[in-house]
Amino acid sequence: MEQLKNTTLSPNLTVLLYGPPGTGKTSLTRGFAKKYGVPICVVESDRLVSPLLGDTIKNIRNVVELSSEISKERGAFVLFFDEIDAVGSERSNTHEVGEIKRAVISFLQVIDRVNYEGVPLAIFGATNHQHQLDSAIWRRFTFHFRFDFPDYNLRKQIIEGFLAKIKRAKIGVDNQIFTSLNEEYNRMQKIEKEIANKMGQKVTEFDDMILWNEISKKIKGEGLLKLTHGYSGSDIERGTKVALLKAISVELLTYDLFYDSLKLVGGTAIHVERQNTLATTRGFILKDEGNEKKHNRDNKPPEI
Ligand SMILES: Nc1ncnc2c1ncn2[C@@H]1O[C@H](COP(=O)(O)OP(=O)(O)OP(=O)(O)O)[C@@H](O)[C@H]1O
Ligand SMILES: [Mg+2]
Repeated sequence: MEQLKNTTLSPNLTVLLYGPPGTGKTSLTRGFAKKYGVPICVVESDRLVSPLLGDTIKNIRNVVELSSEISKERGAFVLFFDEIDAVGSERSNTHEVGEIKRAVISFLQVIDRVNYEGVPLAIFGATNHQHQLDSAIWRRFTFHFRFDFPDYNLRKQIIEGFLAKIKRAKIGVDNQIFTSLNEEYNRMQKIEKEIANKMGQKVTEFDDMILWNEISKKIKGEGLLKLTHGYSGSDIERGTKVALLKAISVELLTYDLFYDSLKLVGGTAIHVERQNTLATTRGFILKDEGNEKKHNRDNKPPEI
């Protein structure tokens, strides 16, 4: 901030995180604040929205003004508007259109003032309804981070992370899980390399159907990574929790138990609208079309 002072560019940090549910937007923001030792104030945006005329605007102003005062007195902190679409889109809880428009405008104005006055605030916003977000809101955020469903590399890490947590609960984890996870992972990597060599460019799981088609063809049966294609980190967490509860009585998490639990919770991608995530679900949709039975769109989410 010291260095930026003379540039006349406002030194505050504004970040918009967007992407499908359960992919880590809220966690990353909280993790960011923790990592840099900066306090965080989470505004549950839906609570700003009031059915009483004028109250939404008042709430927005109050939150930002109070935050500005505190940050000027006590130093920088993160002001986090989680689910920012509640104030920034037409799908807001308020029914009166004029009120919504005024709320958006009011939000824009307070952000502008924070920017203009160089208030030491880091404003983060998160949404999984990015297509409903007012374009003027987008512009107020300097950085836009897109979140996607995790690819198989990241899914492996997430699965291993959660398995490590199960071990901490003093529940044995059958080695077969790690062995088959590693085997499946190595085979996927090999297929990815082969395709990249043939095409002369890197291919990823969600870019288009090439890699996933090839994987579906060459790897028979469903491994953990194949099963979790289209799962969010949060889906994997839910599956792990189900597995944990089932494993308590036997004190051992077996491959079948883990696999079945993950399968039971299902992935989020099939419930995300096509236009909502575009590139992110492209891989999934193509798979969906070729695999109607497994991912029937009319299917209700599994109940646990
Ligand atoms: N990339 C990831 N690595 C590890 N865990 C993850 C990841 N993404 C999500 N999770 C798990 O899922 C949980 C929920 O994630 P989080 O609440 O941050 O998602 P979100 O993107 O904010 O979702 P929403 O849009 O629904 O608010 C986290 O607490 C974490 O345990
Ligand atoms: Mg969130």
